[in-house]
Amino acid sequence: MATTKPDLRTRVRRFYHHIRTNWPWTLYQRAGINNLVTNRKLYPVEGGDGEPCRLVRADYDALLALDVMERFRKYPFVFDKVLEYAVSIRLLGLEPGKVLLDAAGGFGEYAAAALELCGLERVYCLDAVRLPDRGDGVERLVGDVSAIPLPDASLDAISCHHSFEHFQGEADVAFIREIGRVLRPGGRACIIPFFLCNRYAEIRNVRGRALFDPKAMAVYDPFGTFPGWGPFERFARVYDRQAFEGRLLPAAEGRLDVSVHPVFFESEPCPDMSRNHHQPRLNGLLKALILTRRV
Ligand SMILES: C[S@@+](CC[C@H](N)C(=O)[O-])C[C@H]1O[C@@H](n2cnc3c(N)ncnc32)[C@H](O)[C@@H]1O
Repeated sequence: MATTKPDLRTRVRRFYHHIRTNWPWTLYQRAGINNLVTNRKLYPVEGGDGEPCRLVRADYDALLALDVMERFRKYPFVFDKVLEYAVSIRLLGLEPGKVLLDAAGGFGEYAAAALELCGLERVYCLDAVRLPDRGDGVERLVGDVSAIPLPDASLDAISCHHSFEHFQGEADVAFIREIGRVLRPGGRACIIPFFLCNRYAEIRNVRGRALFDPKAMAVYDPFGTFPGWGPFERFARVYDRQAFEGRLLPAAEGRLDVSVHPVFFESEPCPDMSRNHHQPRLNGLLKALILTRRV
């Protein structure tokens, strides 16, 4: 069968796509930091091996149908952030009558979506930055995740999207301790994405900052988008198996059961990083960290 050669425009577009998705643009990729390796080689992790979370199109579409998610409808592919929200709705078992905190929740998009979709009794959104109240029923709190301004055992669920990796100093450890304090027995927290990688590293896109943990590999990456540029960003931390077990698990202090859950969408590992170009490739193979308060 005769095949027609693609025209120049198609070839240029394919070449650009190939470079963009396959070239290790960033120094942390050059340093070999890779999230993809984890699921293939590092599972199971002691104290961290969870059931896969299997999502289907209907989970995604239920979120997209909400007004607060309108900005994602224009994308002709499955958008990673919507998937993350769908995972935490599923794994947190959100249902009417429950009280949720979205920790480091930014503008409170997830908090508003969960409130509407799941008929929750009360939803808080905590962030270090004061952000406007949108009159959507979400109660905004300003503060640090390492000292959550809520009483002991006052929450059924805590979500944390795309923020845990930016927690500086000891805030990652302190947040896990706080989860153990503010969750009710049987309550759950979902941290997603959870960057359980092949290296323990602190990645910065600014120079001249000392390591928070001398055991971590220091990566200065002026090209990396992963650390972010917002207030409380310019920094991102990824964990290897030893750091997960040595740094994070002790913070659970015997109060929390801890598990790591790989995510599948329509039976495939996700998100599709050949389409989610707005995110660095490190986001490939989505995982959720689940902490459940022991009864
Ligand atoms: C990348 S944004 C993600 C926001 C939101 N969760 C989302 O998915 O759109 C990270 C957020 O974490 C917040 N943050 C970082 N460190 C924090 C801390 N120690 N305590 C509270 N919020 C923090 C930042 O202010 C920022 O809003």
